[in-house]
Amino acid sequence: MGIHGKKSKFAIATAMLAVAVFVCVSLAGEKKHEKELSIGERFHHESSLTWRGVLGDMFRTKPKKPPQYKTYPGVKKIKLPKPEYKGMTVEDAIKNRRSVRNYSTKAISKAQLSQLLFAAQGVTGKMYGQALRSAPSAGALYPFEIYVVVNNVQDLPQGIYHYCVLEHALELVKAGDFSGKITDAGLEQEMLGDAGVTFVLSAIFDRVRCKYGERGFRYVYIEAGHISQNIYLQSVSLGLGSVCAGAFLDEKVNQVIDVDGRKEAAIYLHAVGSL
Ligand SMILES: Cc1cc2nc3c(=O)[nH]c(=O)nc-3n(C[C@H](O)[C@H](O)[C@H](O)COP(=O)(O)O)c2cc1C
Repeated sequence: MGIHGKKSKFAIATAMLAVAVFVCVSLAGEKKHEKELSIGERFHHESSLTWRGVLGDMFRTKPKKPPQYKTYPGVKKIKLPKPEYKGMTVEDAIKNRRSVRNYSTKAISKAQLSQLLFAAQGVTGKMYGQALRSAPSAGALYPFEIYVVVNNVQDLPQGIYHYCVLEHALELVKAGDFSGKITDAGLEQEMLGDAGVTFVLSAIFDRVRCKYGERGFRYVYIEAGHISQNIYLQSVSLGLGSVCAGAFLDEKVNQVIDVDGRKEAAIYLHAVGSL
């Protein structure tokens, strides 16, 4: 081997060593960086998309996709009136939207509740046979289940109901007065028990994790905002008052709607009442 061959072998070995040192130093730096992060910063950091992460994600095992629709076989099903209210312009609804926390004792009507549920998650179209809904959803995977704590709705007994998206109907999960329990779970925010109805937006995480991995959690939180904004604007248009609530004791709200808090968990509350 000539002097040139020896030189080029030496150059390749040096380059490889440099790359190895670079990778080790950068990984060690990243680990140190991670340790310094708060839990929230870490969540954001670790669910951030990077090309390395995207490639790595291809080889990571993801959970199996859970069923698209949650069902309550054998429970009482209440068909809701067809949602067909024609209200104010979207511009007026946006301009007039405000968080309202005081309601009158007037019950909200079943037609109003029907319209609100439709705004939250109603079926508005179809693509390749799959139902598409009123609020956008990453990959049209729709992680949310909607529960309503019915406190004061005409012709609808008090109780916890689950919204059956495909049939635009309510399924009775638990009968009774839950106004005290939802107020208690919501850190004594009285509007939650005073409202005609309090929505509980609950997410089944694996519906999005099965495709997007841990980033799917971010999509869940974003989607809750879309749904809640629809409820806000629809409330304004119906002449009702409403407010969203992110401050609540998770475990207690999960108990109210009977979900485990891990595979499915309450993400957001939204109270709606008459003015
Ligand atoms: C993520 C989030 C969480 C919120 N949580 C609560 C809450 O727990 N209780 C409450 O009374 N209002 C809550 N709000 C409503 C805000 O207080 C309200 O939007 C803000 O004061 C602005 O007023 P506006 O909605 O009338 O424009 C929340 C709003 C957001 C976006």
